Amino acid sequence: MIGVFDRALAATLPLVPRPVVRRFADRYMAGETLEDAVTTVRRLNDRGVMGTVDVLGEFIRAPEEAEATAATYEHVLDAIAAERLDANISVKLSALGIDVDAKLADDLVARVLAAAERHHIFVRIDMEDSGLTDRTLRIYRRLREAGHERVGVVLQACMRRTMDDVEALAGLTPNVRVVKGIYIEPEEIAYRDPAAINGNFVRAVDRLLAGGSYVAVATHDRPLIEEVLAVIERRLVSREGYEFQMLLGVAEDVRHRLVAAGHRVRVYVPFGNAWYAYSVRRLKENPSIAGYVARDVMRSFVPGLR
Ligand code: FDA
Repeated sequence: MIGVFDRALAATLPLVPRPVVRRFADRYMAGETLEDAVTTVRRLNDRGVMGTVDVLGEFIRAPEEAEATAATYEHVLDAIAAERLDANISVKLSALGIDVDAKLADDLVARVLAAAERHHIFVRIDMEDSGLTDRTLRIYRRLREAGHERVGVVLQACMRRTMDDVEALAGLTPNVRVVKGIYIEPEEIAYRDPAAINGNFVRAVDRLLAGGSYVAVATHDRPLIEEVLAVIERRLVSREGYEFQMLLGVAEDVRHRLVAAGHRVRVYVPFGNAWYAYSVRRLKENPSIAGYVARDVMRSFVPGLR
């Protein structure tokens, strides 16, 4: 149960000293370097889990930052191929500069995609806030219509439009990651009620599977996973027709159970030096963890506190 206290703490998280956030960041990210990401993915692979590597770097302000992110993705792709890792990449259009210069973002997406295609590696375009939904889906459609097959998109169950997007994309038999949605959106366009979000989540997965789409079910919500498993069973979808996805450091028991039961499972592996913003977002998302951060801060001031 998440307390009001934890929620209030989460709101003040940006005030928490970086070394403390860093200790919690370690749980959610591979580290700062590509080597850290490779080590983490290899460890996951050894346990039968696939990876999707994310270069931390949202909220780009200058074209050079977007170029640097694209270059880092090229290094990631080379490393995945050279190390023979079972991994793909997840990219954010904001990190490739879509808010700075749309043409630049198009060029950088093309560059990253070309590098991925050289190595036969899949690219997932993450979905960001509602200001980017249309542009993201447009870019995805354009890429698919241009013949790029190893590219996928994300749909958010919290968005009221999502079933319309599922229908609109149906002709492309899209590879879709379904998530609840992490961004806080106005009620006119997004569901707030957890039951409505979960209902939309299951409907989207069901419709996508029925249309022959490969679906990445990205959630740690145990009852929701059970509902999705029931859909998969009812639709007689083969093990190659879907996968589960989770964040690094979250719900590891659920992940292990799914792997043991023979389902494909992939973990999101973020790395880079933009770890502070990423961690604060994760901590805000799960306020109960904020309580641990606070206790950690207290401990540094009050020796002996448990
Ligand atoms: P919910 O938030 O209800 O959590 C269920 C349970 O999981 C919690 O009770 C808790 O135990 C545990 N849990 C969840 N998050 C946790 C955390 N951060 N730390 C510790 N425990 C946690 N969103 C988006 O808008 N666009 C995107 O492209 C993506 N991409 C993406 C990829 C992958 C692989 C995952 C797993 C998630 C995303 N998301 C995302 C985020 C997604 O929208 C959602 O915010 C989170 O997955 C949390 O929601 P759950 O479905 O886990 O349910």
